[in-house]
Amino acid sequence: MTVKEIFETMDYGPAPESAAEALAWLVDAGDSFGHFIDGAFTAPGAETFESRNPANGNVLALLSQGSAQDVDAAVKAARRAQPKWAALPGHARARYLYALARLVQKHSRLFAVLETLDNGKPIRESRDIDIPLVARHFYYHAGMAQLMEAELPGREPLGVCGQIIPWNFPLLMLAWKIAPALAMGNTVVLKPAEYTSLTALLFAQICQEAGLPKGVVNIVTGDGRTGEAIVSHPDIDKIAFTGSTEVGRRIREATAGSGKALTLELGGKSPYIVFDDADLDSAVEGLVDAIWFNQGQVCCAGSRLLVQEGIAERFYEKLKARMDGLRVGDPLDKCIDVGAIVDPVQLQTITRLVDDNAGEGEIHRAAGPLPENGCFYPPTLITGLHPASPLMQEEIFGPVLASTTFRTPAEAVALANNTRYGLAASVWTENVNLALDIAPKLVAGVVWVNGTNMFDAAAGFGGVRESGYGREGGWEGLSAYTKPAGKAKALNPIAPVPAPKKLEAEGLDRTAKFYIGGKQARPDGGYAQAVWSPKGKLLGHVGIANRKDVRNAVEAAHAAGGWARTTGHLRAQILYYIGENLSARAEEFAARIDAMTGGKQGAKEVEAAISRLFTYAAWADKYDGAAHGVPIRGVALAMKEPVGVIGALCPDEAPLLGLVSLMAPAIAMGNRVVLAASQPYPLAATDFYQVLETSDVPAGVVNILTGPHGDTAPALAAHMDVDAVWAFSPGLSAMVEKASTGNLKRTWACNDKATDWFAPEAEGRRFLEAATEIKNIWVPYGE
Ligand code: NAI
Repeated sequence: MTVKEIFETMDYGPAPESAAEALAWLVDAGDSFGHFIDGAFTAPGAETFESRNPANGNVLALLSQGSAQDVDAAVKAARRAQPKWAALPGHARARYLYALARLVQKHSRLFAVLETLDNGKPIRESRDIDIPLVARHFYYHAGMAQLMEAELPGREPLGVCGQIIPWNFPLLMLAWKIAPALAMGNTVVLKPAEYTSLTALLFAQICQEAGLPKGVVNIVTGDGRTGEAIVSHPDIDKIAFTGSTEVGRRIREATAGSGKALTLELGGKSPYIVFDDADLDSAVEGLVDAIWFNQGQVCCAGSRLLVQEGIAERFYEKLKARMDGLRVGDPLDKCIDVGAIVDPVQLQTITRLVDDNAGEGEIHRAAGPLPENGCFYPPTLITGLHPASPLMQEEIFGPVLASTTFRTPAEAVALANNTRYGLAASVWTENVNLALDIAPKLVAGVVWVNGTNMFDAAAGFGGVRESGYGREGGWEGLSAYTKPAGKAKALNPIAPVPAPKKLEAEGLDRTAKFYIGGKQARPDGGYAQAVWSPKGKLLGHVGIANRKDVRNAVEAAHAAGGWARTTGHLRAQILYYIGENLSARAEEFAARIDAMTGGKQGAKEVEAAISRLFTYAAWADKYDGAAHGVPIRGVALAMKEPVGVIGALCPDEAPLLGLVSLMAPAIAMGNRVVLAASQPYPLAATDFYQVLETSDVPAGVVNILTGPHGDTAPALAAHMDVDAVWAFSPGLSAMVEKASTGNLKRTWACNDKATDWFAPEAEGRRFLEAATEIKNIWVPYGE
C-alpha cells in the first residue's frame, strides 16, 4: 500500500507479529511432543497426530495420543504427589502459584504468539486478553492458597482432579482449571483439546522452571478417547470439564455412582438484549466483542440479538455498517479483528448450520474480503428469525449472530429465557431501573449490564440449566476443589419393620395421603404400605407414590414459583412459625418416632428439628451475596438465587430431623421441594402435613410423598421440570446421577456415605450452597 493510498482510504496497513520465537520453540522441542508426567516430558507416543495452524493449514507439531496407560501413569504420579502437596503450608503453595503467574508474564509474548498460531485467534486478543487473564488467575489463586487455612477451616482438598478442556481459550481454560485445584492442595491430570495443546505443553515447561514438585501438574494430550480414559479412571476424585453439552452429558453418565465430584461448564446461546433507550453506538460496539471476539467461538458469546422493535431498523443499519468495517485475516496481524476458525471440522459445522437454516431469515455478511486460504468465516448477521429457528436455539460456535425483535420488556425476558441453556446475558439500556429489573429475571449464571464478555478471577463464572453446573473463579469456585474434612462412615440401609406373624385386626382405614399443592391427595395407584412398630403394632398405612404422583407434586411445586420472589424476611417468619408449631406438638412427634424406630431418641430428634428450623430461619435473610471488585470499571454483584424445584430423597434414619434438614435450607433460599419421606419410618412426615398447614406455608412450596424411594427417585431424577435432586437414601446415587442427564439437573448424591443428622455439620453453608445458584451481575460502577 502506498502512502497516498493510505491517506485516501485511511485504512490500516498490515502489522504482523513475528512468529519466529514460537516456531523456534517448536523446533527446539523437536517438533513432536510426548506428555508431561511426573515432572518430565515423555518421548512421543506410538500414535501421533498433527497440530495445524488453522490460518494457513501448516503443520505446527506432532502430538501424542494419550493411551489408557499414559493416563494411568499420570494419575499415579498425581496420587503420589498429592499428600505432600496438600501438606505444604498454604503460603508455600501460594509461592508456587505466584511463581507461575510471574513466569506466564515473563513469557507472555511467546504464549500469545503460540496461542494464536495454534488456535487462529487474533494476536490482539491472545496478547491483551487471554494471557493477561491467565496471569491474573494464578495471582488471584496464589492469594487463595495463602488464605485457605484461615478462611476455609474444615475444608480439605479432593485429591486428584481430572481436567478436560476445550480449544477456544486453550491456556485460559487451563488456568481456570489448574490454579484453583493447586491452590486448594489438589494435584491434576489435565487434557488439552486435540486442536490446541501447544500452550499447555509450554505451560508444562514453566512448571519445571518454577520448580513445581513433580506430579503436581500432569498433562496428557489426545482426543476424546484420552478424555474417556481420564473420566473412567478409578483413582480420580473429581472431573472438571469444559466443552460441549453433548460430551458433558456423556461424562455425567459415565461418572454416575462413582463418587467422583463433577463440574461441567457447557454450551450457551446467550441473549444480547438492546432496549430502545440504549446507547446504540455502544451496543453495536459491544456486539463486536460479544459475537466476533474469538470468531464467536465463545461459550458465553452474545449469539442471540434481541432488539426492541422501534429501533430495530436503525440498529441493524448501524450494525451492518460496523460489520463491513471488520477486518478478517491473518491472526498474527495486529490490525485484524477476526481471525481463523479453529479447524476445518468446526468451519464445516458452522457452514452447514447456517446454510441449512438461514432460508427463513435475511442474511448479511461482512463486506470485507476473506483470505483465500485457511479456515475463515465472515462475520454474519441473520435477522427476522423465528424464535424456534435452529439458528436461534442451537449453539453455532462461530461468528454468526441470529436476531429477532421484541416489543416489551416482558417479551424480551420471555425470548431471552426461551432456551435450554443459561450461561450468560447482556442487557443494554440507559435506564438503571429497567436494567436492574430485568437482570434477576434472566435465567443465566452471568449478566452483563451495558457490557459483554467480561471475565475476572474474582467473579465466579458458570451456568444454569444445560449450560452445566459449578462455578469457576471467586470464592464459590473453590468449593468445587474442596470437601468437608474428615472421613464419612458407610450408610447402612434400614429395612421397614416387617409385618408380625400374627396380624392384629386393622380396624378403620388410617392410610395417610400425600401432601401435594397444600392439600392431602390420594395415591394415584391406590396402593398403600403398612407401617409396623418393632413390637408388632400396626401404626398406620402410607400411600405408595408412583410416577403420576411425582408428576403432580412437581407440577404443584412449579405453580408455587412466587415463593422464589418472596423476601428472606418472610421466609424466615414462616420457618420460625413451623418451628413453633412443631414445638407445640413435640411430645406427640417424639412418641411417634419412638414407636416407629423402637428407640428413645424421639424427644431429642424433635428438639434438633426445631433448632434446625430456627437455624434456617436465621439464615433466610443472612446468606448474602457479595460485590466483587473487578479490575474493569464496575462491580460484579454475586447474587444468590434459588435453584428452583428440588426433589429430595430424605434420609431413612432420622425420619423427622432428616426431612427438616433438607426441606428447611431449600425453602429458606426460595426453592420449592418435593420430598420423598423416610421409607421405613414415614409417619413423622405424614404427621408433619398438619404442622405445615398451620404455618402459612404457601400451597406447593413443600410437597411430600411416601413409598419406596426406588419408585419415586427415577421419576424425580428424570423429570425435566426438576432442577436438582438430593439423594440421601442408600443405593440410589448411581441411578439418580445417571437419570439426571436429561436436563442436566444438579445432583447431590450421598454415595452411601452416612451423615450424622444431629451433628453441627448437618446444617449450614454446605446446605445453603446446594440450595442456591450464584448469578454474577456486572454493573458499571465508579470511574
Ligand atoms: P467437545 O466437547 O467434543 O470437546 C471438548 C473437550 O472434551 C476436548 O478436550 C475433547 O477432546 C474432549 N472430549 C471429547 N469427547 C470426550 C469424551 N467422550 N470424554 C471425555 N472427553 C471428551 O467439543 P468439540 O467437539 O471440540 O466442539 C464441538 C462443539 O462443542 C462446538 O461446535 C461447540 O458448539 C461446543 N463447544 C463448546 C465449548 C464451550 O466452552 N461451551 C467449548 C468447545 C466446544
